Amino acid sequence: MTRVVVENVWKVYGDQTVLENINFEIEPGSFISLVGPSGCGKSTFLRMMLGDEAPTRGRILIDGEVLEDEPSPDRGVVFQKYSVFPHLTALQNVMLGLELAQRPVLGRLFGRKRRAARVAAIEMLQSVGLSHSVNKYPAELSGGMQQRLAIAQALIKKPKILLLDEPFGALDPGIRAEVHEIMLRLWREEKMTIFMVTHDLSEAFKLGTRVIAFDRVRTRPEEMKAYGATVTFDLKVDGKSLPPQVPVASPLAAAAQ
Ligand SMILES: Nc1ncnc2c1ncn2[C@@H]1O[C@H](COP(=O)(O)OP(=O)(O)OP(=O)(O)O)[C@@H](O)[C@H]1O
Ligand SMILES: [Mg+2]
Repeated sequence: MTRVVVENVWKVYGDQTVLENINFEIEPGSFISLVGPSGCGKSTFLRMMLGDEAPTRGRILIDGEVLEDEPSPDRGVVFQKYSVFPHLTALQNVMLGLELAQRPVLGRLFGRKRRAARVAAIEMLQSVGLSHSVNKYPAELSGGMQQRLAIAQALIKKPKILLLDEPFGALDPGIRAEVHEIMLRLWREEKMTIFMVTHDLSEAFKLGTRVIAFDRVRTRPEEMKAYGATVTFDLKVDGKSLPPQVPVASPLAAAAQ
């Protein structure tokens, strides 16, 4: 299980401060919904979580270790418009996720490992409801199916942290509700920590165990560049708990026992 600590994180591009003084601690197995107005730095924050970008100041700790400044198979990502590879079938797309994790240079597995990867990929496609589409190409799948394929491709690597950047934004409401259920099931089964950026507050509260908002506190035009967004609210969602069997490993709780 993965504990994330964000300590005094700032992100500055040139003379523009995008994020300032972001602090929070995430319990293992949490489903964090990240909300806030357009341009407030949500995607920037996810890129830092992915290791694609380093904070300008401060640090992010994962299980007590400073997050390295490069992507790792421990962290998977799904974007709103995810580019699954159009010339590969659903099965090949998911297998590629595994092959790239295991053979980052060649991107191919052979023999027994390849057969095991194939079985794992088929199981993952089943779990996202795509067992009848394993040999289809992305262009032959609906938007919701493509997004489930993208989720399968990210999850096959068993990431400890899944980063979702408006992953369901392009789906129509019926399909969106269906993909929500799949996402919640996979979250419970895989015991991941999830960060999901969304513009939809009802989605944020429906899926998240906690909803964190970024926003700018100072909004006068002359202040816009010098000050970034910070955490303006941080709410635990009532009635939601961590996935079953997850001990709440709080040092305070342990000390109290
Ligand atoms: N690589 C970059 N170089 C310079 N500025 C950047 C870079 N990436 C992001 N920014 C700036 O940082 C700010 C935050 O961008 P970001 O994409 O994180 O916002 P967001 O909250 O995800 O917005 P949206 O909800 O529209 O997706 C924007 O003003 C953007 O122009
Ligand atoms: Mg964004």
